[in-house]
Amino acid sequence: MQGSSDVGVLGLGPMGENFALNLLSRGFSVSVYNRTPERTRAFLERSGAPEGLRATYSVQEFVSSLSRPRRVFLFVKAGAPVDEVIAQLRPHLEEGDVLIDCGNSHFRDSDRRYQELLGQGVDFIGMGVSGGYEGALRGPSMMAGGSIRGYGSVEGVLREVAARHHGDPCVAYFGPGGSGHLVKTVHNGIEYAMMGAIAEVYGVLRAGLGMGPEEASEVFESWSNGELSSFLVEATYRVLRYRERESEGPLIERVLDVAEQKGTGLWTAQLSLELGVPSPSISEAVHGRFVSAMKGFREKASRFACSAGPSTAESDLLEACRSSLYLTFVSSYLQGSLLLEASSRSLGYGFDVAEAFRVWRAGCIIRSRIVERAYSALLGREAESRTLQLMEEFHRDFRERMVWWADFVAAAARLGVPAPVTSSAMNWYLSVTSRRLTANLVQALRDYFGRHGYQRTDMPGTFTSDWGRG
Ligand code: 6PG
Repeated sequence: MQGSSDVGVLGLGPMGENFALNLLSRGFSVSVYNRTPERTRAFLERSGAPEGLRATYSVQEFVSSLSRPRRVFLFVKAGAPVDEVIAQLRPHLEEGDVLIDCGNSHFRDSDRRYQELLGQGVDFIGMGVSGGYEGALRGPSMMAGGSIRGYGSVEGVLREVAARHHGDPCVAYFGPGGSGHLVKTVHNGIEYAMMGAIAEVYGVLRAGLGMGPEEASEVFESWSNGELSSFLVEATYRVLRYRERESEGPLIERVLDVAEQKGTGLWTAQLSLELGVPSPSISEAVHGRFVSAMKGFREKASRFACSAGPSTAESDLLEACRSSLYLTFVSSYLQGSLLLEASSRSLGYGFDVAEAFRVWRAGCIIRSRIVERAYSALLGREAESRTLQLMEEFHRDFRERMVWWADFVAAAARLGVPAPVTSSAMNWYLSVTSRRLTANLVQALRDYFGRHGYQRTDMPGTFTSDWGRG
């Protein structure tokens, strides 16, 4: 049958598959296409080929199976694959056809694609789709932007498949170009901060109250009905208690503490820096994922780990201020050193970080006794792992004065004095010297809602689990 399906879904990953099933369940006929035909066949088999589903095996067949104006939902990996797919579709599309990019695309890419397709009269919509693979099936929240005419063509469909809050469909049109993807990016930035905060609380429940994952799970569960009621807190208590087999402990203990990312958190942080509008918790959550990925460095730096121990008397606040300032200075130099080491490597400059410390000893604004000491400590040593060498040099200071640092941060908070630089300097140090972080929980949560996969500490490979969702 030529040109009969209401809509098309291109890309049959977990999100595309479930979105297609959602559309079918709402009575729309759906053509599907995937670059690899095996995936299309597997989908047909798994879904039992419900009525209204039409599998196609070439872009041409896919496009010509759609009724006009054609409405195509793209579920392909953000970045170059979206441009490739658009290039393949373009010759087959006509004035008034609508392309809806449902991936986590960069909003500036969506701005560009919207403009490029405008000339051909093809209505481009960049649409953030949230709720993971389960949301795609049962009803996602959707943030659309781009062609207003195109939105008019698909609005009815979107309202049908969207999540509902007391009957109100969770879908909106935000404006031209990449506005929908911009809103989705900020959504993801908030998601990063919330997950980072959950993992931090989990860390304190463990270290402070000696709780294991199952006890912590109970705590999160008890919080999940009150003011903290949320998808992520519920996901947390489920993830923490999940066991693959009764005989084994909670799986979370065997998830590698490396939290991955696909870019949206970073873009939010970049946007924040570009606009000069602070969103430090989002940036910190992104940094948290970077730190988690520095597994090798953390293993080595963990010998410099220290904790503050019991707090000092309040009368010592002056000393807390002095020592805290000193450690924040050192931490800032260390952060800069690590950044220089990485840039020298990745950008191919090949300079020795020690040279920077050499020229910073005099004349510049950051010259200091610390710089002089740092340079002396690097002299005559191999020109690698410079930051670790510096940490070795200053380790004793950190160990002895950590208590002042912690006291300063706590005192500032109690006094209502903002101290974001100092507290982030302290947290940077605590993070990079942690052999084991609670990023395993962030990674497990990503797998819980997005099937993003995780690595384990007890066997090689990439895994995905259903975390007891059935
Ligand atoms: C959602 C999620 C979803 C996806 C993120 C994860 O709203 O459903 O945000 O879009 O799981 O892309 O992002 P990272 O891979 O960067 O953690």
